[in-house]
Amino acid sequence: MLRHSILALLLARHIHAVQLLTPYPFRSPYDDTIDEDDKDFNNGDPLAIDGSNFPCKLYQDDNTNPNATDIKATYEAGQSYSITLLGNSTFGGGSCQISLSYDNGQTFKVISSIEGGCPLNSTYDFTIPNFVPDYSQVLLSWSWFPFLGPRVMYQNCARVQIGSGSTKRSTRHTRKQRRSYYSKRQATALEDLPDMFVCDVGEFGNGCTTIEQRNLIFPDPGDNVVIGQNNETADPGPGYRFPDNSTSSTTSGATTQTTESSGTSEITATSSTGVITTAGVNYHYIKHF
Ligand SMILES: *[C@@H]1O[C@H](CO)[C@@H](O)[C@H](O)[C@H]1NC(C)=O
Ligand SMILES: *[C@@H]1O[C@H](CO)[C@@H](O)[C@H](O)[C@H]1NC(C)=O
Ligand SMILES: *[C@@H]1O[C@H](CO)[C@@H](O)[C@H](O)[C@H]1NC(C)=O
Ligand SMILES: *[C@@H]1O[C@H](CO)[C@@H](O)[C@H](O)[C@H]1NC(C)=O
Ligand SMILES: *[C@@H]1O[C@H](CO)[C@@H](O)[C@H](O)[C@H]1NC(C)=O
Repeated sequence: MLRHSILALLLARHIHAVQLLTPYPFRSPYDDTIDEDDKDFNNGDPLAIDGSNFPCKLYQDDNTNPNATDIKATYEAGQSYSITLLGNSTFGGGSCQISLSYDNGQTFKVISSIEGGCPLNSTYDFTIPNFVPDYSQVLLSWSWFPFLGPRVMYQNCARVQIGSGSTKRSTRHTRKQRRSYYSKRQATALEDLPDMFVCDVGEFGNGCTTIEQRNLIFPDPGDNVVIGQNNETADPGPGYRFPDNSTSSTTSGATTQTTESSGTSEITATSSTGVITTAGVNYHYIKHF
């Protein structure tokens, strides 16, 4: 009885933040197969701004989550589906991405970008690209950068299976396909899909921070982009910046100066690409100023 009152209180306090409802993300408070004690009633909280639980709150790791490999949805390549979201702390909207990871969270490949107005709708459609391989241990990620409020990244991840679960098709593409990709700029293989935008999670986003009340335009949104409206008129995007004081936002043609606290200015190049390695995982990045 007492335990249930405490749970009800926890629910009342935390359940309203928008979070992925279906497919059930890891440790979802709405997933009836999970014991009360194993549910994360804070699953609607953002990722830590220091990146310490990036990606997926680290729930994708089967060393720490005994159910990390349990499949919550099965999709077919080339078919369309939707995610559902629940909660009414929407922070006026923002921009979201739906991504797939075939390497348990080392890289996330974008299949849908919603720029503005997300998550004001509770359902978002996506199509599993027809060229992705069958695999039983894919992560489906919903990530969100809110329009208003603290500069944070939200991410919930669900374990999904694509097709039969066993890879039969090659993820590699032919030289001809690659040429065609570069001329048409259209993805023809998993590796051609853009990387998920990562920001507001410390070094994983290169110290990138989003800018409140600006329209967040993803640097590489991919082939499937939905434009939505935030609940207020947004200042022009792209709406993110790096700590070297250069900015990715302009107002009336003027560069907006950023004020950064000391200790965040170690990146001073005007552009760079590279790899951050943390806990044995390589995070590839391309940075534009
Ligand atoms: C794992 O699944 C079992 C069986 O459904 C459930 O009892 C348990 O609470 C789950 N644990 C987590 C951490 O999801
Ligand atoms: C917020 O969510 C709660 C619980 O689902 C619901 O009772 C309430 O009506 C919602 N409020 C708004 C403003 O949508
Ligand atoms: C937009 O949303 C924010 C927070 O969710 C709220 O405070 C604000 O009043 C909303 N603005 C409008 C015009 O509805
Ligand atoms: C949100 O839902 C409305 C009504 O169904 C639709 O017209 C609009 O395109 C949707 N917006 C986004 C960004 O999905
Ligand atoms: C940021 O830019 C301002 C104005 O150009 C400058 O005064 C300041 O020193 C810069 N800060 C850093 C950390 O580079």
